[in-house]
Amino acid sequence: MILGAIILAAGSGARFGTSMPKQFIPLNGRPVWEYAYKTIKGHVGINSVVVMFPPSVSVLNDDARVGGNTRRDSTYLGLKALLETQPDITHVLVHDAARPFLTRKIIDDCIEALNSGYDAVDVTIKSPDSIARLDASESFVEAIPDRSKMRLGQTPQCFNAKLLLQALEGAPESLPFTDDIGILLHVFPAAKVKNVEGDEENIKITTQSDLIKAERIANKMLDNPKKNLSGARAVVLGASGGIGSAVVEELRARGVTEIYTPSARNGNPSDFLKGIKDVDIVISCIGQLNRGDFLEMAKITPEAEFGSLWFDEFRINFTLQGQIFWDALHMDVVKRGGSVVFVGSSSAYHGRPGYSAYSSAKAALMNFVQSVGSEEIGVRLNLVNPGRCDTPMRQRMFGEEDKETLATPKQVASKIVDVSTLPCSGSVFDIRANELDT
Ligand code: CTP
Ligand code: MG
Repeated sequence: MILGAIILAAGSGARFGTSMPKQFIPLNGRPVWEYAYKTIKGHVGINSVVVMFPPSVSVLNDDARVGGNTRRDSTYLGLKALLETQPDITHVLVHDAARPFLTRKIIDDCIEALNSGYDAVDVTIKSPDSIARLDASESFVEAIPDRSKMRLGQTPQCFNAKLLLQALEGAPESLPFTDDIGILLHVFPAAKVKNVEGDEENIKITTQSDLIKAERIANKMLDNPKKNLSGARAVVLGASGGIGSAVVEELRARGVTEIYTPSARNGNPSDFLKGIKDVDIVISCIGQLNRGDFLEMAKITPEAEFGSLWFDEFRINFTLQGQIFWDALHMDVVKRGGSVVFVGSSSAYHGRPGYSAYSSAKAALMNFVQSVGSEEIGVRLNLVNPGRCDTPMRQRMFGEEDKETLATPKQVASKIVDVSTLPCSGSVFDIRANELDT
């Protein structure tokens, strides 16, 4: 078997709704299409690859070709291009560039099915919902087909190359096919299409909310580089706290020679950062967690530095971080090409009663990192959102909790230091207790 691959990246992404088609949006600093490309290119079972791009976009890559107006046209042009470069291709794999999380296992399973002699392979998953079939007017439900016989279709889809070519050339132009197996079965109803189990995470980015899902999946896949940092210099703010002191230990264990830990809670960043120059890494673990209903916390009190406890909480968790970043850049605390990491909170994704200041400040911090980290700033800026972590701050708020369900400060610190060594900027990394190695 000689297997070629077509990656479909020529769509305009109308449903996604940005002027830049969704497959070019960066995910952890790399365009979406590159993810599947890398997996396919790196698979030993695949002999040649073409990537179909819109005519308006030129990508410097030997495998780049120009796609068509419809998905079907792009597949057809891709197949022609493959057969031109390698006429002895016997089989072809077609994959949506908008599905970045294709796994090696899925490709392995497809190849195994093709080797067994089937005409084609479809990759599908079970549907958690029932599937309703509508009548011709699309206003009435006609039937609920047996769910156990229903699947949701993903890609890749794989074919005997000759059969796919004939199907694409033979299927009527008028029918609204959404994938290539549909075309094959229309032309060759008796074709044997083997079903292969897909993956829940092999999602297609279709709308904006899929991008948020994709960011979470991409960040989970962050491999643990455990990069040696010998000779590096770092600043850790909030180093007296549970996570902060664990970060200092972790940096030491990785070989960081000089670690500055100025007391940062009160005072001005331009004062507490004074005299520190050109470090490689700045990590801010400063945070403050107070509970309180808005009407209570927002009252003006003489003790609160900025008028109310609500504002103090917001200042420490958000505006102070912005000031730290400004001063770190303007006073050359962090060197060009260096790395800044802030510590957020998983509560940023969802506001809960009693936490309007803390959670909304962390949500603001997350948005700050995503936007500013993607601007031309000369340093990398990323955020780690720890889930529930066993820190003194948390114990004060929530009392004794089941330790099994909490991450330790050491585990969280190790991820924070990993993130500080990554090449990306503007990224958010969520960590949950059960995803951490012990
Ligand atoms: N595709 C393609 N050529 C086209 C249309 C689609 O290569 N003329 C690709 C898309 O780039 C995508 C995949 O086919 O990777 C799946 O299509 P879909 O999710 O529908 O993407 P778009 O067609 O770009 O999005 P929309 O339908 O919302 O416009
Ligand atoms: Mg489409």
